[in-house]
Amino acid sequence: MPRMNLKGSSSIVTGGASGIGAACARQLAEAGSKVVIADLNEEKGKEIAAEIGGVFVKCDVTKTEDADAAVAAACALGPLRACVNSAGLGAPGRTIDRNNVPLDLDKFSFVIRVNLIGTFNVLSRAAAAMAQTEPMDADGSRGAIVNMASAAAFDGQIGQASYSASKGGIVGMTLPVARDLSAVGIRVNTIAPGLIDTPIYGEGEHAEAFKAHLGQSVLFPKRLGSGEELAFAVMECITNPYLNAEVIRLDGGIRMPPK
Ligand SMILES: NC(=O)c1ccc[n+]([C@@H]2O[C@H](COP(=O)([O-])OP(=O)(O)OC[C@H]3O[C@@H](n4cnc5c(N)ncnc54)[C@H](O)[C@@H]3O)[C@@H](O)[C@H]2O)c1
Repeated sequence: MPRMNLKGSSSIVTGGASGIGAACARQLAEAGSKVVIADLNEEKGKEIAAEIGGVFVKCDVTKTEDADAAVAAACALGPLRACVNSAGLGAPGRTIDRNNVPLDLDKFSFVIRVNLIGTFNVLSRAAAAMAQTEPMDADGSRGAIVNMASAAAFDGQIGQASYSASKGGIVGMTLPVARDLSAVGIRVNTIAPGLIDTPIYGEGEHAEAFKAHLGQSVLFPKRLGSGEELAFAVMECITNPYLNAEVIRLDGGIRMPPK
């Protein structure tokens, strides 16, 4: 079977206004897909959408109505074939602090809600729309979903309990969701990025020095990965017809230390 052909299709990229999501949106557009940037950040989201000839939809991934709006916008542009769930955040906090006070449960829940529940919310609604498209090939393929976990799903650092739990949840649901969606010809894969150079590390001289320092802990090459390199892996997950139910670390071989 040849690679999935994205020409004339539509795609959704949550978190597409920035970093990894923006890099994925660019490569999907280059492959001929009309991309919906589904993000909370209106200014940056509109900018990326204009650059790639896509559409911006203001979307909070935790809201079902927002996910439905993003899916509807994509379906209006062509058959929905790809959904990349890159919206995510972290909120560091130790399980108990130096004074033995437990982490505020609302802070823990917020990260789970955005990263894990938000991912499932969008992927399930995107899958429902993909399931109604005509199959693309003799296998009966209808589309592909890629979720963004993190190396922290496996080697979470001090203060990352909520983030690691949210990303571990994404890793854990990859196989059952792929099993659920196999009946309608939708593949599901997850990428677990290591240290990728995006705005999450800030901007300016201080941020550059910090990133150079972080890069020294990568096995090889000794630098942060780029959004583009990460998006190469996402595109492989989307277009390779035999890649399914897999979790792939894209991390230059780094194994995160406790801190
Ligand atoms: N950059 C890294 O080193 C790295 C490492 C591991 C995992 N990741 C994961 O990759 C994904 C993308 O990270 P990035 O570095 O590109 O981050 P980023 O901060 O550059 O981009 C994240 C985007 O998600 C959006 N977003 C946040 N909450 C949202 C919500 N509720 N609804 C819709 N959009 C929302 C933000 O507005 C932003 O545009 C995240 O899930 C992150 O956890 C990143």
